[in-house]
Amino acid sequence: MNLNKISQQYLKSQVSGYVSSKMETEDLSQYVRLDLGENLLGCSPKAFKSLREMALFDFNYYADPYGKDLKKTIASLYNIALENIVLADSSNEIIEYLPKMIISPQEKVLIITPTFFRFIESSLSSGAEIIYQPLNEEDNFILTPSIIENIIYKINKLNIKMVWLCNPNNPTGVVTNINLIETLLKKTSAFVVYDEAFYEYYDTANLNSGIRLIKKYENFIVLRTLSKAYGLAGVRLGYAIAHKKTIETISRYQNTLLMTSGIIQKIANSAISDQNWLKNSVAQIKFLRDKLFAQIAKLTNLYLTANSNTSIFLLKHISKDIFVELKNQKILTADFRESTGLEGKRYVRVTIGNEKQNKQLIKALQKINFFYPSS
Ligand SMILES: Cc1ncc(COP(=O)(O)O)c(C=O)c1O
Repeated sequence: MNLNKISQQYLKSQVSGYVSSKMETEDLSQYVRLDLGENLLGCSPKAFKSLREMALFDFNYYADPYGKDLKKTIASLYNIALENIVLADSSNEIIEYLPKMIISPQEKVLIITPTFFRFIESSLSSGAEIIYQPLNEEDNFILTPSIIENIIYKINKLNIKMVWLCNPNNPTGVVTNINLIETLLKKTSAFVVYDEAFYEYYDTANLNSGIRLIKKYENFIVLRTLSKAYGLAGVRLGYAIAHKKTIETISRYQNTLLMTSGIIQKIANSAISDQNWLKNSVAQIKFLRDKLFAQIAKLTNLYLTANSNTSIFLLKHISKDIFVELKNQKILTADFRESTGLEGKRYVRVTIGNEKQNKQLIKALQKINFFYPSS
C-alpha cells in the first residue's frame, strides 16, 4: 500500500492509549474492567425499552439523515436550535474529522497534557505540528488563569490554528470555569474544540457548559457523547454543538448521507429524554466516588493528586507500579505510565465501579499500599 507522506509520518508515531498493545492477545474477561471510563452502573431502562418497542418495519428503511427527532430532544435540553447541532456515530468520529477540515499540513495545534490521547492521534494523522501545554502536577493538574494566559500568548505568537480542551479533563476529572475559556476565545482566533464527554457527571444542569458561548463565537465547538454518563458506550452516538454557520460547514463536510443508524437515534433519544435516570445515576456515582476517595485517603502510600468531578480519577503509589500490581490482582485500569505529559510518573486512571467492583478495588489497594522501605 503506497501511503502519502502524512500517513507514513503518522504511522511512525507512537501515541500511548489506555490498554497497552501487548494486551491484545490476553483474555480481558478475566479482569475487573476499570479501564475505559464507561458508566458501570448501566444505562436508562428506557433505552432498552425503545429497542424492544421498535417496529420491525423500521429496519428496512434508511434513517432520517437529519436526525430531526433526536436533534429536537437535544435542542430542547439546552435551549438551542436544531441548526446548532450535528450528530455523529461517536464523538471520536468528530474528533477525527475536525483537524482534517481545519489544519493544513504542518500547521500548529495546541494540546494540554495530560488529556485525551485521541486529540494527539487525530492531529498527527492530519499532518499537524503539536505544541504541548503541560498542566502541573504540583497544581493538581488545574488549568489555571496563568496557563490560559500562556496558551493565549503561544496561540498568537506561534500562529496556532486549533486548540483542544477537555472539560472536565480526561484523565484527571478536573473542571475549568467557562469564564477562563471565554477569555481565550476573546483574545485569539484559533478554533477551540471543547470536549465535554464527562460533563454530565459534574453538572446535569449544564450551567458551566461551553454551550452558552456557541452563539457568540463561531470558532468554538462543544462535543458531547452518550458513551459516558448516559451509559451507552456500545451504542456509538456523539454530537457537536456550535454556531449555526459552523454546524452548516461541518454538515456539508461530513458527507455521510444517511449516517447514524435509525435504531441508535431512537435509543439515544429515549436516553436523553430520561433526565431523571441521568440525575439519579450521576448522584449514585458521586456517592460511590466520595466513599472510594475517603477509603483511598486512609491509604497513606497512594496519591489521588487531582480532584475529580467525574467517574474517572488518576491514582499512583509512592513507589510501586500500580498498573502492574492491580493487574496481578485481576483489576485492569487505564495505563497512563507512558501517557504524554505523565511519562514515568506511574499513574493509572481508574473508573468508579459499582459497590462490588469498588470493594474489590479497595481490597487490592490495601494490599498494594503496604510499603517496604528500601534498606
Ligand atoms: C474526553 C473524551 N472524548 C471523547 C471520547 C470518545 O467518546 P465516544 O465513545 O463518543 O467516541 C472519550 C472516550 O473515552 C473521551 O474520554
